[in-house]
Amino acid sequence: MSENILIPDDLARALREARSVAVLTGAGISAESGVPTFRSRQTGLWARYDPMQFVSVEGFRRNPKLVWEWHQWLRELVAAAQPNPAHLALARLERLVPACTVITQNIDDLHERAGSQNVVRLHGDLFETRCSRERRVLREAELDTSTVPPRCPCGAFARPGEVWFGEALPPEALNAAVLAMRACDFCLVVGTSAVVHPAAGLVNLVSDRATRVVVNLERTGHAVSADYLLQAAAGMALPALVNAAFGPEQPPAAP
Ligand code: APR
Repeated sequence: MSENILIPDDLARALREARSVAVLTGAGISAESGVPTFRSRQTGLWARYDPMQFVSVEGFRRNPKLVWEWHQWLRELVAAAQPNPAHLALARLERLVPACTVITQNIDDLHERAGSQNVVRLHGDLFETRCSRERRVLREAELDTSTVPPRCPCGAFARPGEVWFGEALPPEALNAAVLAMRACDFCLVVGTSAVVHPAAGLVNLVSDRATRVVVNLERTGHAVSADYLLQAAAGMALPALVNAAFGPEQPPAAP
């Protein structure tokens, strides 16, 4: 399927010769795994739900049960999803270049399940549970599950661990993302509408000498400064790009 996409020779060579790759991913890379994006027309989560009601501190304060149960629905949906060829192509790329950092806005775990090791999570982890008062991560065994949401031993409600609108990004994740973007000589932006900051602004840190590629179904603000725009599904474009640079993946040698 990925052979339908024509990868320019100079783009394939730039990736093959890259020393440090930084990849910024958004919800679009998980779309072909069946995980809804946020802003796609009709199917995006924010076309159906008000983000301020479901992913904000105020929304949780107003109706913690609704927010908790919505996240339980999303957790089940993501747990049933599988990494798609786009996630797998990035995990393969990490094994082929000297340095590769996947900086994701996504709260699913599909990059890790695809085999990516060096993943920077800007918006946290859907499957993490924290105390809404102490902010610390809570283990399953600590939760008082006699209420919905469950409660922390301190008595406060537990909440999903991802970053909500209006909350600061984890400083260590943001720092790691800044370093990777500054150091890269090849920057790949995949499946993001480029409207949420500071994530969207990270591409401004990329050196002018680096090769910048956007993979997206539609043109976004990031396309303006890109050297290449692969306007296609990530599940086709990323395997095509990695195959063009390094050849098709060889099946594991027979034992
Ligand atoms: N392949 C490539 N791109 C795709 C695909 C696909 N199969 N499907 C959708 N896209 C594109 C859409 O065209 C859109 O430009 O992916 C982008 C997804 O944009 P959003 O839904 O806005 O998701 P994202 O950019 O990750 O949102 C950023 O907003 O709500 C917050 O915290 C949330 O991390 C999220 C942040």
